[in-house]
Amino acid sequence: MPKILFDCDTGIDDAMTLLYLASLIKAGEAELLGVGTVHGNVDPRSGALNTLRVLEMAGISGVPVAVGTAQPMAQPVHYAHSFHGADGLGETGLPVPTGDLSDELAPAQIVRLARANPGELTLLATGPLTNLGTALLLDPELPTLVREVVVMGGAFDHPGNVTTHAEANVWHDPEAAELVFGSDWPVVLVPLDATHPTAVDGDWLDRLAAHDSETARFASRMLEFYIAAYAPTLKRRGCVIHDALAAMLAVDPAIGRYVERPVRVELRGEFTRGTTVWDARAHPDDDERRPVKVAVGSDIKAFQETLLAAVLGL
Ligand code: BDR
Ligand code: CA
Repeated sequence: MPKILFDCDTGIDDAMTLLYLASLIKAGEAELLGVGTVHGNVDPRSGALNTLRVLEMAGISGVPVAVGTAQPMAQPVHYAHSFHGADGLGETGLPVPTGDLSDELAPAQIVRLARANPGELTLLATGPLTNLGTALLLDPELPTLVREVVVMGGAFDHPGNVTTHAEANVWHDPEAAELVFGSDWPVVLVPLDATHPTAVDGDWLDRLAAHDSETARFASRMLEFYIAAYAPTLKRRGCVIHDALAAMLAVDPAIGRYVERPVRVELRGEFTRGTTVWDARAHPDDDERRPVKVAVGSDIKAFQETLLAAVLGL
């Protein structure tokens, strides 16, 4: 059973991912050892309170939720309120959580849980990578302690979603992403190339909206906000639940298709800062960087049906 530490910026698709993880926990198919939040869609404290709210609604208690870094390593902070709402949850007005946030900071939590579970921890990251980058600086042995790092981020052949080439999670902290992709640990990267084709629409959204449970009603209302934000991009009624694909590939890698390539982050480009660059040449010149396993596609039906069943089953 995977032992997961979830690092996120909750966020609508992060919240959908929490619901998916909650269903795995209830089914005894995954352990969630902790959640850490980072700046990104919202500030990290709001993201942590959102996380607690969603976990409580899904009937999950006892998972420590740690607030993380509030600023990127080398640039000003930006939030994505236009995509996720001022509250990060599509302005759904969930009640304040009853539980407390952890006293530990998210990067320290990463180091503690990796040390307590050597070789076992899956780090699932669906926000900017500042907490992971900070944890690498806190403990240089971290790469030897973690089983796998699964990241939603980047764009290769697909256009960016913040600038022409840059995807949000990498663009929010390019220096941290470069640290994570350049470290000697097994990284699985789930970029826009893999997530965009999984956009949910029509029948999927109708089945969610027709289901009579508190969680389904919440998910459906939250996604309405996201659908409106996606209208100019998708040009149809739908939305991309990026982060849940990364979570599903962490648990069930067989539903993905991958290539293995060294990945770098552009840190200086005038128009391309925050862009992910892969080396697709058959013979890269003596690249000593460990290749990243990059998802380039997935079994879309399996992803959509599994996610819907998870949310309806809570
Ligand atoms: C990523 O950016 C965020 O807005 C989403 O939550 C997702 O993690 C997609 O680029
Ligand atoms: Ca996210």
